[in-house]
Amino acid sequence: MKITITGTGYVGIVTGVCLAEIGHTVTCYDIDKTRIKKLQDRIMPIFEPGLEEMVINNSERLSFISDYKEAYRDSEVVFICVGTPEKKDGSANLKYVYDAVQQVVECVKSDCTIVIKSTVPVGTGDNLDRVINQKNDTKRFEIVNNPEFLSQGTAINDTMNASRIVLGVNSAKAERILRNVYDGFRQKYVVTDRRSAEMIKYASNDFLALKISYINEIANLCDFIGANVEDVALGMGYDPRIGNRFLKAGIGYGGSCFPKDTKALHWLANFNDCELKTIKAAIDVNENQKIKLIKKARKYYDSFRGLTVAILGLTFKPGTDDLREAPSLQNIPILLEDGARVKVFDPIGMDNFKKIYPSEIEYCNCIEETLEDADICFILTEWPEIVTMDVSKFPFYMRNPIVLDGRNCFSLEAVEGKNFIYESIGRRVVGQSTQIKESILKSEKAG
Ligand code: UDX
Repeated sequence: MKITITGTGYVGIVTGVCLAEIGHTVTCYDIDKTRIKKLQDRIMPIFEPGLEEMVINNSERLSFISDYKEAYRDSEVVFICVGTPEKKDGSANLKYVYDAVQQVVECVKSDCTIVIKSTVPVGTGDNLDRVINQKNDTKRFEIVNNPEFLSQGTAINDTMNASRIVLGVNSAKAERILRNVYDGFRQKYVVTDRRSAEMIKYASNDFLALKISYINEIANLCDFIGANVEDVALGMGYDPRIGNRFLKAGIGYGGSCFPKDTKALHWLANFNDCELKTIKAAIDVNENQKIKLIKKARKYYDSFRGLTVAILGLTFKPGTDDLREAPSLQNIPILLEDGARVKVFDPIGMDNFKKIYPSEIEYCNCIEETLEDADICFILTEWPEIVTMDVSKFPFYMRNPIVLDGRNCFSLEAVEGKNFIYESIGRRVVGQSTQIKESILKSEKAG
């Protein structure tokens, strides 16, 4: 089967390489010539563990091109994996999806199945079907919705061993073709109509976002009442009806999906005169959660002016260089505006961060250099390098060892008695009674 993948972002490249791995001949097309050139030279445009090896291993069946006419001409199945970025009003921008489908329709020689993997509002597949098939009486296009559920950092495993393959189809033929495509995978199929498949994607992502916002609110309450959110989550998670995943409290969710998809579904509901109160709440809670550490820091310093702030972790989660909607993008502007000297370290994300902040902040080569002379440290991403560090480095290198951990990287036992103040999310504060003179901190540094 001749398969073309449109869009070489996370979803496109990973889908392409996994389909090549099970024996298909796959052409990946992207409008971005530089990106394609890199892929032809086997330079991965994204950081994803295992991807490069898999691309090299499947070289015979996998090609990358930037000429859409050539990419689509003989295609039997085209996967649309382009972005659907958020518009100002929260709705999804479908321009790239429509443009891509239009080009497929123009270029393909005969009947073709167009598979929408991009996250699109409910009804998009039906609209495309109507518009395309009305105009064409020589070629027939099957339109399928086939959402993806991969997470960055574990994308290949998530695809090869997906929890389910959702097929939104409106013909037996389309179902048969997609089952053939996925024959090498042995996962459960959920076959439904296109609108339901489109909804499954949003409902799944938004439920996970809701779960995170819920545990974050519980954590914030734990801060006040002296309970430990990790024990609470553990106790909740043993109930199979709740499940133990996505109950990790922190400074909120980021990334390319949850923030965008919660807003898109909320917009869609409003557009249809419905209200999604839970999703609205998840969005609001997350916005506040992202600046939780700033609020905690105000306990120690009225202002950040003249202070040195160490930031450990910039990306929205470990295992990726992706900064989209990362809490660092909310926190660092506040610190800079307030007059702080900001030093940062991230094992993978600094090159991307430099594109946004080329000179205003100091990029450090290691954790120790970042901590040197710092008056406070914010931990924003739970990179293994951070989680496994020797915590005695905080009081050793910092001028005023106050550590605000937005990802609960250390157990409370590990930081107990180590001579620094340690605040995390939904757990008690450690080190209040150390030698740190809060009065000095406030008076000397605030001005
Ligand atoms: C997510 C979905 O998991 C995936 O199914 C979908 O296809 C795309 O969006 P991804 O954005 O790669 O994947 O990352 P994920 O691991 O889900 O984490 C998203 C955000 O939630 C991160 O910022 C992470 O730190 C946060 N998170 C996750 C929590 O704060 N607590 C948790 O318990 C889990």
